[in-house]
Amino acid sequence: MLQGKKIVLGITGSIAAYKTAYLIRALIKKGAEVQIVITPAGKEFITPITLSALTSKPVISEFFSNRDGTWNSHVDLGLWADVMVIAPATASTIGKMANGVADNMLVTTYLSMKAPVFVAPAMDLDMFAHPATQKNLEILRSYGNHIIEPAEGELASHLVGKGRMEEPDKIVELLERFFAPSGLLAKKKVLITAGPTYEKIDPVRFIGNYSSGKMGFALAEACASCGAEVTLIAGPVSLSTHHPGIQRINVESAEEMYKASLKVFPEMDAAILCAAVADYRPSQRAMEKIKRETMETMTLQLVPNKDIAASLGAIKHPHQILAGFALETTDEQLHAAAKLKKKNLDFIVLNSLNDRGAGFGYDTNKITILTRHGESTVYPLKSKREVAYDIVTKLAEYL
Ligand code: PMT
Repeated sequence: MLQGKKIVLGITGSIAAYKTAYLIRALIKKGAEVQIVITPAGKEFITPITLSALTSKPVISEFFSNRDGTWNSHVDLGLWADVMVIAPATASTIGKMANGVADNMLVTTYLSMKAPVFVAPAMDLDMFAHPATQKNLEILRSYGNHIIEPAEGELASHLVGKGRMEEPDKIVELLERFFAPSGLLAKKKVLITAGPTYEKIDPVRFIGNYSSGKMGFALAEACASCGAEVTLIAGPVSLSTHHPGIQRINVESAEEMYKASLKVFPEMDAAILCAAVADYRPSQRAMEKIKRETMETMTLQLVPNKDIAASLGAIKHPHQILAGFALETTDEQLHAAAKLKKKNLDFIVLNSLNDRGAGFGYDTNKITILTRHGESTVYPLKSKREVAYDIVTKLAEYL
């Protein structure tokens, strides 16, 4: 996928700069051409000699060469590249990119870039978590840049947390995916459900669950970047969508999600039901806040919600592909296989709360895909973005 691709690799002043040596080697091994643009601080962490030896190209850092006055054209680089990767990206560079502070060759090249941009942050956990950094990353996302989430682990400060630049092989995998699947779901319409549902008890209380929406939103982004027209029906979550190919419908309760799903499903080629839909709701909803003083104990009577997956399974046409999820805690394979059959799904994505880093809230997931043909494929723990591409690949096989 990377054969012949022209990659501008921007390196900034972080200890993670040493990893770029491995990244360059891996990219070149895949057939890519790599041009380094490095900030002055970056050169304190990895030398231009190492970088030019690895890329077989002069390293660009300044606007002009002091030796012979050659002008390094950021505009030409912006036109030359198929993709720009900034790895590692420090908080400072991220801030400059978000605000257009073009005081070095790297940020100037970024502002001139016509190709897609990937940003791999690397910094201390508190710097990464700081609202200023998060806001700047959100701004970059709104520009259409791809943020490669940093990993959790031991940092240069010896503190442990989120801030480690993603590993070079992961970055390469991501780039391969980016270049590979465009068109994989071209002209396909895909429905995704995501997040939890809230079942109201009264105006201030509800029955809900821990779903953050991350898995479903990653699926929506992955389907859209593979060319699909995506309808994302989202329960109450605080995530935003970035791809223009995603049409989002916000709902709150299982009943609202059911109605919205049934309405759009007939036009769809496929649906992936990732939402953690509440199976029950209170039989009655109080119109005013229930006062604690009025009741010593409280009993809620619950009635079952409609099963969206089973309802779609009952009306699906042979050309439509229906995939569900199974979140299990015991006898995982058995329960998932039973749901696959009962809901008339083509395949089911099993995740278990017994696997560390899998399920609700995490940025990672560990899945097994079971198909109606009896196949079972186990995947290792991956980021939810990567998991989403594995699921999209399976969906594409079926479509
Ligand atoms: O949102 P995150 O924090 O990223 O977490 C992701 C996740 C754990 C929510 C996701 O990976 C996941 O497992 N989603 C399905 C959770 C679930 O409700 O599983 P289930 O085994 O109870 O349901 C089986 C299938 O039926 C699911 O496809 C579900 O969407 C669907 N269902 C369930 C009940 C119902 N009333 N209607 C449905 O459509």
